[in-house]
Amino acid sequence: MPRPSAASTSGGGAPQVGVAVVDADQTVRSRLAMQLGQGATPFGSLNDLLPRLTGHPVVVVLGPSFNEPEELAAAEHLLSARREVGAIMVAQELTTDLLQRALRSGVRDVLQSPVDSQQLVEAVSRAALSVAQAAPPVSAPLDDDAEPGRIITVFSTKGGAGKSVIATNLAVSLARRTDRPVVLVDADLQFGDIAVMLKLSPQHTVVDAVGAIDRLDRGLLQNLLVEHGPSGLLVLAAPLEPAFADQIGASEMVRIVELLRSFAAFVVVDTPAYFNDVVLGLIEISDDVLLVAGMDIPNIKNVKIGLQTLRLLNTPMEKLRLILNRANSKVKLDVGEVERTLGVNADAQIPSDVVVPQAVNKGEAVVLNAPKSGVAKSIEELADKFAPVEGRRKRR
Ligand SMILES: Nc1ncnc2c1ncn2[C@@H]1O[C@H](COP(=O)(O)OP(=O)(O)O)[C@@H](O)[C@H]1O
Ligand SMILES: [Mg+2]
Repeated sequence: MPRPSAASTSGGGAPQVGVAVVDADQTVRSRLAMQLGQGATPFGSLNDLLPRLTGHPVVVVLGPSFNEPEELAAAEHLLSARREVGAIMVAQELTTDLLQRALRSGVRDVLQSPVDSQQLVEAVSRAALSVAQAAPPVSAPLDDDAEPGRIITVFSTKGGAGKSVIATNLAVSLARRTDRPVVLVDADLQFGDIAVMLKLSPQHTVVDAVGAIDRLDRGLLQNLLVEHGPSGLLVLAAPLEPAFADQIGASEMVRIVELLRSFAAFVVVDTPAYFNDVVLGLIEISDDVLLVAGMDIPNIKNVKIGLQTLRLLNTPMEKLRLILNRANSKVKLDVGEVERTLGVNADAQIPSDVVVPQAVNKGEAVVLNAPKSGVAKSIEELADKFAPVEGRRKRR
């Protein structure tokens, strides 16, 4: 096969990777090849493609004829035999079942037909990056020398304490400070609302990562993340239906977060308001646990119980940081008194401000939408503790 400088994979220092389109239907494969521009070669079947493989990295776009189980099985066979081949698939009808079968077969991404040209080109580029990484020989090892990212879990034993607001804004702030990826994981598996808070419409969720857990690698996992345009933050969204939460175990969540930290500078994890196996597993691997407490007596009582539970579980207390939310003079609870009651000093005090619900309702981050507010400033100060802005260069 030629080594085309396909528009989709050239430029920006991206590796040179061949692109093939395979579908039984001639019209379908020609149209897909055309959408990819020069350099994408159409084939009628995998058997036609096979003799053209030279060991050089290739991305194969599998047309809708591969939605059939038998055809998909043939593709799986090829993908497991040839490490240099990566595949994405176009689905006639993109169901969860088809997506899971495809990911289990080694397909890296599935797009709904009719495919938007730009989406197609982007999906091919992502697959190209991962085959280029996977295909031996790789002269330099993956950037495995890069330090593993820091895992920051935001937790509270009370619903409505402000976990999701704090996790979202801290993650957005960190994403703007670092060149390496920052990932926000919505581990509130039943009622996660990160996607709504950041106005994202995720194509994939953590359910897809769990469905592909046996062959999950960085490339595949990266394809399941959705990018928050304004900040560059990457998000692994919670299941779209609460019922799916049951399918996700602690060991799988831990595996996913560990894989994310292998390429991200920070993995921020938002959690539900109770301890379960998933939360405990995530707390155990976290470098930092931000315990969020609202400034009222029921909140403080709950945090006290939460702290006792963490102590019982032998969580090192150095990991813990207390975040007081809605910490205003108006609530008549003295911060010093709260700290004494809990036996921990607060690392951050976030005021109560109407800019928070305003931003939440618009699907925007407070740190971007109201950067001058007290809430944004206190979250930036919190972010300073993890990723200081050099000489405050980025600040205006
Ligand atoms: N500092 C704050 N000031 C004003 N409103 C806040 C503040 N923090 C959170 N809220 C509001 O409280 C609600 C619950 O916050 P959320 O982060 O979803 O809580 P949790 O994730 O702990 O259940 C949100 O709708 C948000 O608007
Ligand atoms: Mg929440």
